[in-house]
Amino acid sequence: MTLQVPTVDDKAIYDAYATRFVFPTLMVSVEIGLYEHLGRGPCSVPDVAEALGLSVRATEAVVAVVAALGFLESDGSGRFGLTPQGETYLCGASPFFRRDLPHFESPVADTLRRAIRASDVPVQPLAVQIAELPSERVRAFMEVMHAMTLPAAAGLAEQSVFQRIHKLLDVAGGTGSLSLALASRHPKLECAVMDLAPVCTIAREQIVRRGLSDRVHVVTANMFEDSWPTGFDGLLFGNIFHDWDLESCRRLARRAFETLPPGGTICLHEMLLSEAKDGPLTVACFSIAMLLHEKGKQFTATELQQLLAEAGFIEFRATPSYGYYSLVTAKKGCRT
Ligand SMILES: C[S@@+](CC[C@H](N)C(=O)[O-])C[C@H]1O[C@@H](n2cnc3c(N)ncnc32)[C@H](O)[C@@H]1O
Repeated sequence: MTLQVPTVDDKAIYDAYATRFVFPTLMVSVEIGLYEHLGRGPCSVPDVAEALGLSVRATEAVVAVVAALGFLESDGSGRFGLTPQGETYLCGASPFFRRDLPHFESPVADTLRRAIRASDVPVQPLAVQIAELPSERVRAFMEVMHAMTLPAAAGLAEQSVFQRIHKLLDVAGGTGSLSLALASRHPKLECAVMDLAPVCTIAREQIVRRGLSDRVHVVTANMFEDSWPTGFDGLLFGNIFHDWDLESCRRLARRAFETLPPGGTICLHEMLLSEAKDGPLTVACFSIAMLLHEKGKQFTATELQQLLAEAGFIEFRATPSYGYYSLVTAKKGCRT
């Protein structure tokens, strides 16, 4: 049976899930001296990071959240300055400075304090260290991923590009939620979900449950170390680029380019940050989640375009697909 697109989107669930990071991020933003620094004038994220002794990734994540809240504003060229709200309530010189903020008890803020100093090593690793997690933790994480991505997967399946793809490799496809929705919507589409062994076991269960074993297959492989199966005219990465550091994303884009035949399509399913990197608030909060659990961040459409173009891809398109998600596609040119 086709998985119908829900008639209402799941943004409210994503908001409720992600905004648990909002107040802890606000607390930490005050402690690190962000507003004092920006009180001297607008500054780029790398400059703020250097002045505060933090990584660019951590600074960008914190700045995006407090900008989405309205305490900072972008000047449109990558620099952020204080808004009247930021100046009034978050700067030490103001009589209304909320010096109490950092003193609320918050376990999430404690973890975030460690994460922003740990720089590129996640303090509570999930997907990027899935091979080292106990099996019950893997199953719990994959259940969350499955539930979170299934509605968006149904929405993704409505995108016309999937009418033109015949064989799709779902790289690091997890439980196969995206492939299952795509295969159920497109009766001629064949998919292969590629992931690490413990996750493949869970994917197989989901595929059997949905009765799609004839068209959704499973490939056990480490996407960085093993060779990728060939013969696919489409490659899909759902919530994968946001997990990894830039160099790993470049490697994945290069491998995707090598694997696809000329004319093949790469598809990224991601929640995109605005070009100014000042929201939406929920997507900005996912960059905080990436800081705690993974090695990556939420990208803008332009950042993904640059990544794919570097690998050789052309004809880049970013289309909102469902809820907070967008489908980003690009092609391997026919004459490469
Ligand atoms: C955030 S989940 C995304 C799952 C799925 N694509 C989705 O959108 O629901 C990240 C996935 O990457 C997988 N993964 C992590 N490291 C991997 C590796 N080296 N090779 C293959 N898969 C990997 C994890 O097992 C997990 O299924």
